[in-house]
Formats: sequence, C-alpha cells, structure tokens
Amino acid sequence: MIKTAVIGHPIQHSKSPLIHGYWLEKYGISGTYTAIDIAPDNLKKDVQNLIDAGYAGFNVTVPHKISIIDQCAEITPLARKIGAVNTITIKEGKLYGDNTDAYGFAQNIKESTEGWSFAGKNALVIGAGGAANAILYALLEEGVEHITITNRTREKAELLQRFNPDKITVVDWQNRSEACENKNLIINTSALGMSGKADLEIDISNAAKDAMVTDIVYAPLETDLLKQAKALGLQTVTGIGMLLHQARPGFERWNGTLPEVNDELEALVLK
Ligand code: ATR
Repeated sequence: MIKTAVIGHPIQHSKSPLIHGYWLEKYGISGTYTAIDIAPDNLKKDVQNLIDAGYAGFNVTVPHKISIIDQCAEITPLARKIGAVNTITIKEGKLYGDNTDAYGFAQNIKESTEGWSFAGKNALVIGAGGAANAILYALLEEGVEHITITNRTREKAELLQRFNPDKITVVDWQNRSEACENKNLIINTSALGMSGKADLEIDISNAAKDAMVTDIVYAPLETDLLKQAKALGLQTVTGIGMLLHQARPGFERWNGTLPEVNDELEALVLK
C-alpha cells in the first residue's frame, strides 16, 4: 500500500485527494492519498510522523511551500530557482523536494492549444505572488521573448526581474490596461477574479489580434478576463488544467505511472 498525502493549513478545500484518488483507481494502484492539516508550528514534528509511518511522499501547499525547504535533504535546481517546493519524495527517511507548478502551467497550455507555441511571445503577467514565480520560470524556459509584469505592489514585481533582468519589464498597476498593447500572451497569476475576491478590472482590447489569454483562477472556470478575451475573438485557456497537470509528476514518482489528464477528471474536480 503506497501512502501519499497533501499537507497544508487549511487543507479541507484541497482538490488534490480527488485528483490522486481518481488516478489510483483508474490505474489500479493500491495506495492512499489523504489531506493532512498541519499547522506551521507542527511542521517538523508532523512531517517526521509521515516519514516514520512509511509515506512515499506528499504534496505541499500553503503555507508550507517555502518552510519545508529547510527539512529537505535536497531540492531540485528548479525548485531552488522558483524558491518553493510543492512535491516531496521520501527515500530512506530523507525528503527530496521539487516544484511541479512550472511544468503544470506549461503542460496545460501545450495540451490545450494546437499549433500554438510560447517561442518569441511578448507576454503580460498580471500579479507577482507565489504562482507568478513558477509561471515566469516556465515562460522563460519555453522561449518567450519578453515579459511585462504588473502588480499592485510594484516591489514584488521588481523582485521577479531576477529571473532575467534583460527580458522582464515592470509596469505600474494603474497602467495594466495600456500594458496590453501588442501583447500576444496575457496571463493572470493573481487571485483577482476568483469567486469571493475582487474583480481584476483590466481592459485587454489593446492586445494583439492573435493573442492567447489564460488565467490561473478556475473558480469560476470562465473568469471575466477569459470572457472578455473570447468576446474579442482571442484564444483562451482556463486555469483548471494547471492544477491537474502539476499533480502528474508527483503521482509518477510515488506510484510509477505518469497519469493522464482527461475530461472526466476535469469534470470531477469542477463539480
Ligand atoms: P501568494 O500567491 O504569494 O499567496 P496572494 O496574496 O494570494 O499571494 O496574492 C497573489 C497575487 O494577487 C499578488 O500579486 C497580489 O498582489 P500584491 O502583491 O500587491 O499583494 C494580488 N492581489 C490579491 N488581492 C489583490 C487586490 N485586491 N488588488 C490587486 N492585486 C491583488
């Protein structure tokens, strides 16, 4: 019986048990994947309990993605560059950390678009929180030509320029609509537009006519940003696929099979 989990605080709304549970059943693997609430003060002790209980690994979500790094024997260069770990494999009692968010973001777009490529794109990134780190990494890896970042707190956007100062420009938050001019890739990495959060309030009508627009928010699945893009005749990709794809490498490491994302799984998670 392969034991795996997701740890976070709070954790009851996590979709990960549903995703991994679906795959365990689909691939006929004898395993468990549970959601475990761990308060920040208990992180060290409770993670040791998982090691002692023989867990194969676990996913890490808010607020532990950075603090777990101290407990890892090793983290991948990619996780180090992004500065956060979301996937842990346990071997001989030691934690090995990785970050699969960049993979999840890029893979979702690749599988959702045919004949579209990141190469040479002029991108606008909205937001500079945790998710933006992985997305910037993915954009640069995939060959995007230039990235403009806009964020309410300008300093946080400026910190992200470290990924490649030559290719990243920061624009003030109040100028976000003007910043769409000539952009052929627009990505919302902020929480704005999510049910219960403030609206994004951006006018993307200046974007290039062949622009692709994507949002990491998936509740609602079709955000106001994506609605606006569709009304302009632009190509769109919803955020649910990033959540599904980021889960794949962990599942493969723990259970030995790289699982597929399909419509049935997407519908299950959106229910
Ligand atoms: P994290 O992903 O690091 O947990 P977060 O607090 O969820 O961060 O915020 C994610 C992004 O949404 C950030 O870019 C944040 O802007 P700030 O860096 O200025 O905090 C953005 N965001 C959240 N609420 C916002 C709001 N009401 N107006 C503008 N941007 C907002």
